[in-house]
Amino acid sequence: MTSLSRTRRGAELPAKTELPSRHVTLGPHRAPHRSFYYAMGLGPEEIAKPFVGVVSCWNEAAPCNIALDRQAAAVKEGVAESGGLPREFCTISVTDSLAMGHEGMRSSLVSREVIADSVELFIRGHSYDALVCVGSCDKSLPGMMMAMLRLNVPSIFLYGGSILPGRFRGRDVTVQDVFEAVGAHQAGTMSDEELHELECVACPSAGTCGGQYTANTMACVSEAIGLAMPGSTSAPAVYSNRDRIARNCGNAVMDLLASGLRPRQIVTREALENAARVVAASGGSTNAALHLPAIANEVGIEFTLADIGAIFASTPYLTSLKPGGKYVAKDLYDVGGVPVIMRALLDAGLLHGDCMTVSGRTIAQNLEGVTIPPNQDVVRPVTETMKTGGLVVLSGNLAPEGAIMKVAGLTHADFRGPARCFDSEEAAFEAVKQHAYQKGDVLVIRYEGPRGGPGMREMLSTTAALAGQGDDEGVALITDGRFSGATRGMSIGHISPEAATGGPIALVRDGDMIAIDAALGRIDVEIDAEELARREKEWKPRVTRYGSGALWRFAQIASSAASGAITHPGAAGEVFDYSSL
Ligand code: FES
Repeated sequence: MTSLSRTRRGAELPAKTELPSRHVTLGPHRAPHRSFYYAMGLGPEEIAKPFVGVVSCWNEAAPCNIALDRQAAAVKEGVAESGGLPREFCTISVTDSLAMGHEGMRSSLVSREVIADSVELFIRGHSYDALVCVGSCDKSLPGMMMAMLRLNVPSIFLYGGSILPGRFRGRDVTVQDVFEAVGAHQAGTMSDEELHELECVACPSAGTCGGQYTANTMACVSEAIGLAMPGSTSAPAVYSNRDRIARNCGNAVMDLLASGLRPRQIVTREALENAARVVAASGGSTNAALHLPAIANEVGIEFTLADIGAIFASTPYLTSLKPGGKYVAKDLYDVGGVPVIMRALLDAGLLHGDCMTVSGRTIAQNLEGVTIPPNQDVVRPVTETMKTGGLVVLSGNLAPEGAIMKVAGLTHADFRGPARCFDSEEAAFEAVKQHAYQKGDVLVIRYEGPRGGPGMREMLSTTAALAGQGDDEGVALITDGRFSGATRGMSIGHISPEAATGGPIALVRDGDMIAIDAALGRIDVEIDAEELARREKEWKPRVTRYGSGALWRFAQIASSAASGAITHPGAAGEVFDYSSL
């Protein structure tokens, strides 16, 4: 083997003849292909190097994505200085805060699959050798990590960073405060002027939503699972040190190419457990319980809602991050970022320290020298009296396959009340807007699951309106849809099986008593099995009005939320993976 060059840190890179990019660069029959590279200003020396895809979801749709081009450029510098040829491309992202509360939200979860598929197809189609994914808005994180595992070429994930907090009348605010202000405005406790003042100051910079919502939760996952460089996620999007972090990722992916360490060697069952621990410890988004099974599927590991629930049940809630706590993402960065949460868990024996990461070192090695700063309460060390379960997985006759509930920030974790059923989010939001519900009701929003929605919409507009009206714990909201990471209150999502496939949630009627008990992990409708069976016989599937396109396709093939709403067999169905071509 002839080595072409070495990385910046001195590691020997593999010869071109061993890399996928040989298929587009070597031999007389590839002259047409080479002519295309020359047409882009490249020369023979450059196309002899390993090809590294640098994908971001940069776009002008939202602040979440707007800073990614600069970081992708810095990644490319790092790749080039370590002997690679970086090739940049973009994929889509759907911005949940903009899609929220209307038809657009049906596109959100579906976009996760499109992001994974588009990155996969781009890399396959052009025979690249390695990959750096620069993600930000919610579904771009799991979508890109899924693609990294599916392709199994040396890869690194880089999070684009969170927004700076807004400042409103002496307190830090995020977009969550604006969603909740809509409820307060409807309830008449906030004026037009106050609402306008808040909306103008809540989001002062580029970056993702500023609490421990879905993007920041999945960013924590990217470090905990080993696919992101240690300490790379928490710096705010607009901080200049992101250039250095990004360039370092470019260097590091070349080291991975030299060492041969691949994503599927990193994401093991233990790594998935580490990720679930960090989600629970940080009071993270319930969406993680949807994305972790989907990520696991790409490695051929069955890691279901029940598996995640077992991890959640034994994980203390260490942080005080919004929406359940006081602090925003920048505050976590100021005390040391995600490594501090991981340090606390490792010290308590709650992380698998020997899991490998893209740094080429184990989790425990990465955390050497990391300490939990004193005199702060953003992240606390584990103590014996600490409560477990920022998140709880429930099951019962209403959710035989499971459901998820965030208890972080709740004053009580049980609820019993009569059902008020709505067959769409719009119907429920209208009732909440009119305050057409009683304290003690259980609002049931159904036919919003992966297939039924289709697209498993988030119910933030409705939960935020309840919070804004001061009723976030006075009523419960249960759904086969899902919740934004910014949701707070007595909210239970992912009820599986979903209504569209005849799950028990479809059989509930107004007035049925529903009992929720997070301590027992139960969610039940208090009707007997005979009555449920009788109703099941009468139930008829609803006709969808989505008869074509991406939503139709997703509605045909998406699995239950309990297994991640996945759309393909994953590594279990593979005969060979891309990286062995
Ligand atoms: Fe993009 Fe929240 S909408 S991260």
